[in-house]
Amino acid sequence: MRLKDKVAIVTGGASGLGKAIALRFASEGAIVIVVDLNESAMAQTAEEIRSLGGKARGYKIDVTQQQDLRNFMEDVVATEGRLDVLVNNAGITRYRAFGGIGDADWNAVLDLDLKGVFFCTQAAARTWNGSSTARSSTSLRVWVQAPRRMSAS
Ligand SMILES: NC(=O)c1ccc[n+]([C@@H]2O[C@H](COP(=O)([O-])OP(=O)(O)OC[C@H]3O[C@@H](n4cnc5c(N)ncnc54)[C@H](O)[C@@H]3O)[C@@H](O)[C@H]2O)c1
Repeated sequence: MRLKDKVAIVTGGASGLGKAIALRFASEGAIVIVVDLNESAMAQTAEEIRSLGGKARGYKIDVTQQQDLRNFMEDVVATEGRLDVLVNNAGITRYRAFGGIGDADWNAVLDLDLKGVFFCTQAAARTWNGSSTARSSTSLRVWVQAPRRMSAS
């Protein structure tokens, strides 16, 4: 069990790739914190993990909200005693003809895929002592090796 007793947050963990990641992490022994806007799907995923013998809790959080994320991460550390892994999976795609992409679509993508990833990573890093690593699975990739140091591409 490669993640035994590691506390792992998976954003967008209620469905799709995030759910697959959450289930796999739990099977590797992680305590999985499923974060999603979709409360019922989030609760279902957490329940599925528990029914398979894993450990999971769900939080309804909008990952574009900086202060909510800060409160949430502090709550996770206070409740679980640690935060080891952050998977920035929540994201959206707006498939449109290039010439037809409008302001609302572009803002929605930037809010979630760019700002959301940054705010989640920042909120997690504020709780770390410098020894953790975050990896994003969205098109934007961010690795944080220590608080106050970040590279993104
Ligand atoms: N599926 C693919 O082929 C593919 C390819 C490349 C990249 N990706 C990226 O991988 C990630 C997951 O893709 P997927 O296909 O599983 O997506 P999905 O739409 O199935 O799941 C995304 C999850 O994120 C949640 N979510 C959306 N907005 C949120 C918010 N503001 N706060 C919290 N949760 C929110 C949704 O409720 C949903 O459960 C995305 O970032 C996507 O851009 C997917």
